[in-house]
Amino acid sequence: MLHSHKLRSFAVLASALFILDSCQKDAIDPALEIDNARARTKTKLTAVQQLGKQIFFDARLSEPMGVQSCASCHAPQVGFSGFGDIPTGGAAAAQGFKRGFVAGIGEGAIVGAFGNRKPPTAAYSNLVPVMTFDAADNAFVGGLFWDGRATGARLGSTAAEQALGPFLADKEQNHPGPAAVLAKLKNNRAYIALWQAAYGTTNIDISNDLAISQNYDRVGLAIAEYEASTEVSPFSSKIDAVLAGRASLTADENAGMQLFLGAADCGGCHTQSGGKIKRIVVGEAFTGHDYDNIGLPKNPDNPGSNVAPDLGLGGFLATSNNPAWSAQAAANNGKFRTPTLRNVGKAQRFMHNGVLRSLEEVVHFYNTRDVPGAGFNGRPWGAPDYPATMNVDGAVGNLGLTLAQEAQIVAFLRTLDDGYTGPVQ
Ligand code: HEC
Ligand code: HEC
Repeated sequence: MLHSHKLRSFAVLASALFILDSCQKDAIDPALEIDNARARTKTKLTAVQQLGKQIFFDARLSEPMGVQSCASCHAPQVGFSGFGDIPTGGAAAAQGFKRGFVAGIGEGAIVGAFGNRKPPTAAYSNLVPVMTFDAADNAFVGGLFWDGRATGARLGSTAAEQALGPFLADKEQNHPGPAAVLAKLKNNRAYIALWQAAYGTTNIDISNDLAISQNYDRVGLAIAEYEASTEVSPFSSKIDAVLAGRASLTADENAGMQLFLGAADCGGCHTQSGGKIKRIVVGEAFTGHDYDNIGLPKNPDNPGSNVAPDLGLGGFLATSNNPAWSAQAAANNGKFRTPTLRNVGKAQRFMHNGVLRSLEEVVHFYNTRDVPGAGFNGRPWGAPDYPATMNVDGAVGNLGLTLAQEAQIVAFLRTLDDGYTGPVQ
């Protein structure tokens, strides 16, 4: 459960980034006052990571200014993903949340502007490789966003390319262009100091297009470095302690892991080895980074455009300049990238459109999608949003698990949440 003080510490973290000096006052949104003691106890970040962190939590980097940061939709206390439902205004506003969430979908800087996808976790995004087409498997691998459109090809980093998008998206932070984002950094002494420490110059040059594009890329690279840091991607879950030989799974967690890798076949898609060899390795990504259509229904409460099916990867490929890729669009309609399962126990909504509301519901969906009359909490499963490419190879839909086995899988999934503080050996 979320307690209001937790929400508050999220909001204050927004500016609690590095040791305050008089200059940094400029960087602080007065609505987001500081918990400095807490900031100082954080792991030491590199200069580039500190710059990325300041940017990630800075709600001034929205238009209108001061209403939204990356962290508004990727909040640490929910595993750097989004919330379920937060009414705009009201109690949430008093905690520093100026924009709401409806059914897992985050509102943009403009009141009432909603996309139609749920924020995935921003943690471990650096594990997602540059998108490639694997001809042997006839499958696309890698790329960030649910549809892979941040391919990473230009900068060699999916996370850096992804981070350039939200500042300019009209349903997110809504700047008219990169120069508008950079100008806010350029006019701020705290950012100038951070920029110098990170990149060796005090001049955040926006005098010509080339400088703007280079410096905007540096913003993305700094955010990517921060996302890869031990603050965001610490590998501090129970399963990491187990893999390091420092903790043991309970009997239920262990049974859940065996099902995950075996009878329930989760590991075929949610391990980096994937395919036939299913095992969990040190530093496991809990995804093979490939794309599938698991037959999800629409989210009936989605406040974004919700009429046409979301085409996912196929929708992106159709826009690709690479003819070999655009030719694959139709075959990949309705497919979405398999996300990491790290920190998924902290999330409040699940899947690209936020249609599933709990891990119990997720596992029950995998188990019973194809069982006539099945559903969850009295709601039957809706019809698949895009049936033509739905996975029907038996890995999803009618696994024959008992409810006790479903619960064991959930218990295992909860060992993937960072911040394990239980017994270690
Ligand atoms: C209004 C809410 C919102 C804001 C603000 C926002 N995001 Fe997101 N983020 C999303 C949504 C929704 C998606 C998925 C969109 C899609 O796949 O089309 C996403 C996707 C991502 C991903 C890709 C994760 C994956 O597995 O594909 C990363 C990383 C990320 N955001 C980081 C950021 C950063 C960095 C910022 C600030 C520059 C930011 N986000 C601002 C909502 C938001
Ligand atoms: C055929 C490949 C495949 C199999 C098998 C599979 N998954 Fe997934 N999983 C995916 C894909 C693809 C998504 C994203 C689907 C979407 O949003 O459209 C996903 C999403 C999820 C999510 C939501 C994550 C989030 O951030 O919203 C959870 C949790 C999950 N899977 C757990 C499991 C478990 C547990 C199993 C085994 C019972 C399993 N998966 C089996 C491919 C698979």
